[in-house]
Amino acid sequence: MIYADGKIFLLQTRKVSYLFRKLESGHLEHIHFGGSIFSEEKYEDLCSEIDLEDADKELLEKITLSMAPKHFNGGGNMNSYSDEFSGTFLEMLGLEMSSFGKGDIREPMVELVYPDGSSTVDFLFYDYEVRKGKRALETLPYSYDDLDRAQKLVIKLADKEYNTRLDLLYTVFPDCDCITRSAVLYNDSDQPVKVERLLSASLDIPETGLKLTSFHGRWAYEMGRTDSVCRGGKVVSEELAAGESGSRSNPFVIVSEETADDTHGRCIGFNLIYSGNHYEALSSNGASMSRFVTGIQPAGFTWTLNKGESFETPEAVMAFSDKGFNGMSRNMHQFVRKHIVRGSWRDKERPILINSWEANYFNFTQGSLLSLAREAKKCGIELFVMDDGWFGNRNDDKRSLGDWYENKKKLPGGVKELADKITDIGMLFGIWVEPEMVNEDSDLYRAHPDWAVQVPGHPHSKGRNQMNLDLTRTEVQDYVIDAMKKVFSSGKISYVKWDMNRIFSDRFSTGLPAERQGEFQHRYYLGLYRCMKELTESFPDILFEGCSAGGNRFDLGILCYFPQIWGSDDTDAICRLDIQRGYSYGYPASTVGAHVSACPNHQTLNDISLESRFAIAAAGCFGYELNLCDMGDSEKKVISGQVEFYKTWRHLFQFGDYYRLPEDGYIIVSRDKTKAIAFAVERYARPNNDYKCIRTVGLDENKIYNVTNRVVPLRIMDFGSLVNTMTPMHVKQDGIIHHIIDKFANVNGEEQKDLSTGAALNRHGLSLNGSFAGTGYTGNTRIMRTGDTRLYIFCEEKM
Ligand code: DGJ
Repeated sequence: MIYADGKIFLLQTRKVSYLFRKLESGHLEHIHFGGSIFSEEKYEDLCSEIDLEDADKELLEKITLSMAPKHFNGGGNMNSYSDEFSGTFLEMLGLEMSSFGKGDIREPMVELVYPDGSSTVDFLFYDYEVRKGKRALETLPYSYDDLDRAQKLVIKLADKEYNTRLDLLYTVFPDCDCITRSAVLYNDSDQPVKVERLLSASLDIPETGLKLTSFHGRWAYEMGRTDSVCRGGKVVSEELAAGESGSRSNPFVIVSEETADDTHGRCIGFNLIYSGNHYEALSSNGASMSRFVTGIQPAGFTWTLNKGESFETPEAVMAFSDKGFNGMSRNMHQFVRKHIVRGSWRDKERPILINSWEANYFNFTQGSLLSLAREAKKCGIELFVMDDGWFGNRNDDKRSLGDWYENKKKLPGGVKELADKITDIGMLFGIWVEPEMVNEDSDLYRAHPDWAVQVPGHPHSKGRNQMNLDLTRTEVQDYVIDAMKKVFSSGKISYVKWDMNRIFSDRFSTGLPAERQGEFQHRYYLGLYRCMKELTESFPDILFEGCSAGGNRFDLGILCYFPQIWGSDDTDAICRLDIQRGYSYGYPASTVGAHVSACPNHQTLNDISLESRFAIAAAGCFGYELNLCDMGDSEKKVISGQVEFYKTWRHLFQFGDYYRLPEDGYIIVSRDKTKAIAFAVERYARPNNDYKCIRTVGLDENKIYNVTNRVVPLRIMDFGSLVNTMTPMHVKQDGIIHHIIDKFANVNGEEQKDLSTGAALNRHGLSLNGSFAGTGYTGNTRIMRTGDTRLYIFCEEKM
């Protein structure tokens, strides 16, 4: 619901209120973004009124007055806004939008340079509009609402001194308590205006000592959670120059009270529907106020806005919860699932895949791919993905990017024949591409060296031996669209993995004049989004998976086109625990690619049980990435069992409500709360560890649940020389007899069966079976070594 009367502006959902007002001076004063200022009953009441009744308007006015700060201390060396409004000290106000130069000395949302060289900018309110539905952005990906429940508020500001206008756009999504903000700048003057910064949102909060939770890392180490409290000065999370949303800093962040955690406290999750360099900053005056801003990274960015032109910013998403990070994540997940991801795959269960990368790398033939596919099919796997190495002379990572035609030595009958054969096996077929890149050793580069990003006449840096294509240029975009259309229609292709394996350097486009080179990075993304839009619209049934050397470009901009993104090139299950937990704060499981890979793991050489690799990858878009042809029958049997289990619970894993639990655990609860799966892991096993209990979140307190665990396979070998405590004769560890017993003895882990109420499970928890302690082992002893996991299944018992 949106209420606006030109003086008071209220964006309202069932649980959240966002309130600001217009001051006499024309500035907009932010008053509140947080828990609802009305009860849920009153909210229902207000929603049923076409226009608010007078009594409710009066009530809202009074509430606003009661909440707005009453004392502006404009003493000392602060500037008053003008003679007319000598009591207005911008520095001390909570502002909806802050520009540079009129006395607000905090982090601005807008910085412009006008034709006379002035950077003093003064946008004041002149009008507003409330609309039903959600307006599309013209140049950028945007959120949508296909149920038409969203409402939009447009606030119109103008800087009359220089003939520029700024629209602030707000959209309310009542189903997930989310609000989005963006801005559009218009130049109505006769001369060009230089945009130095135009952020998407700015939020003033009348408190200091807030916490910025942000997610950082590097290649194969994405989404490491970092908490920084800002008592004064500034805390920044940004992608400064990589040119992609990034593993270094993800655009998703949380601003919260310092003590907030998964279950308690006020917090706001912010994300940006954008894939380029971004900037999130939490600053504070050290006394009473904080400001958070988010948007396109201003460093390295400029934009010349000519007469009659406009510039739109990416949309920023805001999700408030007073129930801690879990509450915020649930809203954010729902927002991403229903208002970002679109197309035929949005609500569809994602197929279980086998990917050829860690199975074969570049070294494969059609024959070896088909053998892998046949083994995968026997295990119940549904989709075969041929990764890098199928085109040009691509036998290593030094050449051929750009040459999107089959390598006939590897695929004599081309993509078509392979795709047909895979289809005949009974699987879907998918292919890998990296359309944004070129190698110097490629026909494409030899024909169009100027299409590669480099500063002409100067040496350039490479990443993974490759160069970025200049997607700011229409002819390069056209080439990418055309080349990919040919690939995607070269056979029965059901899935595409779209990779991007280097960050940017030597930014320059020969298509831009010198004074516009600061536009390069943003224009790159406008070009990329055009390619992605055209290709996803031309191939609506293909399931696209984004990738950037793992999760180096994991953001809502990509997810507007591709429903899922490969989470990390680190497939080590224990590392993945942290990485996937990082994603879970802002992104639903249905967007994160997660695979079971071989052990010793190819990135860490760690050995982790097949069961743990499965249970950890299950909380995502699940697949395998290992050479099944080299595996023994017993392991393949285990994999078949995993696949069967995953198919039974896939919908819950991919689309259920996800809550983080302590000690790296989680629980996923179905929307109707009749089913749930909880995950537990032993990070550091200790004996005498019996008091393990999973306290659930999100179960229906009125329901009764049957609880079982997924029984894990064990091996006699797992007990080492302890086998001698069970055998009449001495068995040499690792000797022939040990191996024979191992082969024929069928040992399973414990089976736990319980029945309890949702209330008891949520308030006390499920006590887990006693753990292994060397002695006293029975079939019900829970054996969880370091790195072992368990899945517990909750099903409603109909009494
Ligand atoms: C990086 C990706 O993240 C990997 O999964 C794989 O596709 C390689 N690129 C292929 O070059």
